[in-house]
Amino acid sequence: MALHNSHFTKILITGDAGMHGKHLVTFFSNFSTIIGVSRSKTSVSFPQYQHIELDISNIDSIARVMRALKPQLVIHTAALSNENIIKQYSPEKVEAINVTASGEFAMLCKEIGAKFVFYSTDLVYDGNCGPYRKTDSPLNPISLYSQSKLRAEKLIQQVGGNYSILRIALSYGESGNGQKNFFEFMVESLSSGKPISVFSDQFRTPLNAHEAPKAIKHLLDNDWDENILNLGGYERMSRFDMAHTIAEVGGFDKGLITPQLLSETTLSIAKDVSMNMDYLKNSGFAFSTLEEFNKNYILRLKRS
Ligand SMILES: NC(=O)c1ccc[n+]([C@@H]2O[C@H](COP(=O)([O-])OP(=O)(O)OC[C@H]3O[C@@H](n4cnc5c(N)ncnc54)[C@H](OP(=O)(O)O)[C@@H]3O)[C@@H](O)[C@H]2O)c1
Repeated sequence: MALHNSHFTKILITGDAGMHGKHLVTFFSNFSTIIGVSRSKTSVSFPQYQHIELDISNIDSIARVMRALKPQLVIHTAALSNENIIKQYSPEKVEAINVTASGEFAMLCKEIGAKFVFYSTDLVYDGNCGPYRKTDSPLNPISLYSQSKLRAEKLIQQVGGNYSILRIALSYGESGNGQKNFFEFMVESLSSGKPISVFSDQFRTPLNAHEAPKAIKHLLDNDWDENILNLGGYERMSRFDMAHTIAEVGGFDKGLITPQLLSETTLSIAKDVSMNMDYLKNSGFAFSTLEEFNKNYILRLKRS
């Protein structure tokens, strides 16, 4: 049975220097003691938050930290999180960070009786027949990155225990780690008058990284005990739709956006990994829309 969130007085969040990790730390430190793990130093500070510099490719150090601190919940976001980053590492290192470490956290959670939440990706789906439900969905990740995430999922399932795999959608919000995400790149380009080409036939259900932690708390508070869940926003959008929304909200020139067809290229990119989010919607959780988020985000940027 799933634990109610109020039981999680100590939470370990991996990847606390990254986009999702930062928002998880900011949100969950209102309720629990947080231990954050990544290789770099952290730039945030909260009264209930301790950061540990740790390379998760060293599985002995994972075991040392987990056995010494015994968190009740581990949210594992640390990873080489996209194809560009993956290409900078050897296949062995990719396996160690994205796959072996994930299995190790799952195994140690099982050993100490903790719940394990793993950040996977929408890109494990095959991209040919979205929107996907977890129960009836073919998996066929195309990239080295998404293939490593699927291997991690399988390893976690093999280990068992109290685990939940979240298939996270393409995410937006403040990354704050020096690496611009797709949305920040679009805002930057459009606001400085640079033209952009975006696919009008590639679909996602973009996730607000600021609100994802609240959605996870909602799931935990509602006795969430599914082993695999999709976590995306409620809007199915093409990259072109996303760019248009940003231009509309920001008052930027829409003429800067050129639609391109993925189907007319030879690129090996998933076409439609939008996800069905009815279970979350029907459970009463509300996300703000991309338009609402961008109104505030662009206003803040314009003021700064
Ligand atoms: N952002 C998206 O659109 C998206 C979409 C789908 C799924 N996801 C998944 O969600 C998770 C979080 O994504 P994100 O966008 O927040 O990623 P991110 O900003 O790149 O952050 C990744 C984090 O992992 C840490 N990390 C990487 N290698 C490590 C290592 N060897 N040891 C310890 N920490 C390590 C990084 O810190 P250091 O480099 O300092 O160690 C960083 O804190 C990832 O698992 C990703 O696959 C993200």
